[in-house]
Amino acid sequence: MPSSNRPSRGRRGSKRRNKRSPLFDQLIFAADRQQTAGAQPLVSYDEDDDQEFLQALERYATTRISLKRRGVNHGSWAELDLSASGIDLGGNTTPESLHADWRAARPILFPGAVGPIPSEESQRALALYTQLGAPRGLEEFLSSAGCDKLQPLEFADSRDIARVRVGPLGSPWMKSARLSDWEGDESLRLRVSFGREVDDDAARNAASQAAVADLAERVLPGAARLSQAPALRRQVEDLLGTKALYTQHIAYWNAPGGGALFHHDAFDEATAGGQRGVIFTQLVGQTAWLALSNADLGRRIAEFTEALDEGLNDWVLRELWPERRDFERILAKSRDSGAVAGELSLAGCGCFAGLVNRGPEFTSFLADCGHGLVLREGDALLLPNHSLKNTTMHSVFYASQAGPTYGISCALREDLAQREG
Ligand SMILES: [Fe+2]
Repeated sequence: MPSSNRPSRGRRGSKRRNKRSPLFDQLIFAADRQQTAGAQPLVSYDEDDDQEFLQALERYATTRISLKRRGVNHGSWAELDLSASGIDLGGNTTPESLHADWRAARPILFPGAVGPIPSEESQRALALYTQLGAPRGLEEFLSSAGCDKLQPLEFADSRDIARVRVGPLGSPWMKSARLSDWEGDESLRLRVSFGREVDDDAARNAASQAAVADLAERVLPGAARLSQAPALRRQVEDLLGTKALYTQHIAYWNAPGGGALFHHDAFDEATAGGQRGVIFTQLVGQTAWLALSNADLGRRIAEFTEALDEGLNDWVLRELWPERRDFERILAKSRDSGAVAGELSLAGCGCFAGLVNRGPEFTSFLADCGHGLVLREGDALLLPNHSLKNTTMHSVFYASQAGPTYGISCALREDLAQREG
């Protein structure tokens, strides 16, 4: 891929130049590069990039990852260790900086916050993946975990495998499901919730939220350790400004080729008493993420579409919007920050769905702007959420060598019942 594929490159001036590759400097020292707090810096690359750039990567790259999701190539990333070179890219983790990130709904990575993961726990998580693939697997698992009064429930989605209520009427339920209909994607998820699906997803029922947390922490490998990780809890509660309840757990087993398209986890609700964020911990394997605030994604979309209008990445334009008038509409919308924010708040990112999930061009562009990160075993990622338009947008990719990964996401809520952490 020629370097002109990345609109960022031709349009950014480097602040300083030295023996490193100019392209490397352009990406790393771009004035608008925005390093995610706690994350190791990374850039996208391609074997056809210029030799100087590839040599700079030889010197600084610690890990390389190729991203492919449901048959779509999203390019390759190189994580960089710049510590010995005295380069400071920001991504600060001072309390002031973290509070600013929290308020702006920017992601915060807490490396190793939940680790190390005991191998017995990893084994249980992987065995559960195998078990849940079978129609009666969920019931058998719950039964062997000591749960009784199990009641199979109806489910509606073609991807669902089983839904089981754990206890009498009104008790929480668990649901096993595939993540996508794509034939090659063996990813699974297991959700713990209560009440009616969708209708009650944002319900402010403190007792039910607490019952969900209790069940998840009792049976899901790693869930209790996430909730109890003391330093992480202190930092999360400092940001939240009150005691936190981790609830509405979803366990994810991302299989090769799996992941999640760009989305957010916000509800249309008042901030006070609502879901204030999502915390995700990686317990087996690795996942790669694009994560940035709604406002930041809007700005990146505007930059990218302006570059398309200037003639860069012309094949992307032809493929996404064969009719010029359709692109003109997108361009006009992307120049209106309020309109972009509204569109991104819709399920699947509205009219920008094709663009934000476009690989490798848009994925590489966001990674080069500092919005990519790799989540390893024991890491926790906080995705703040204040409203539909002030929330963290995110997109997930499988990034292990082989086999399924395992991680847990929780909704972050104010702990109204003040449970013991
Ligand atoms: Fe999400």
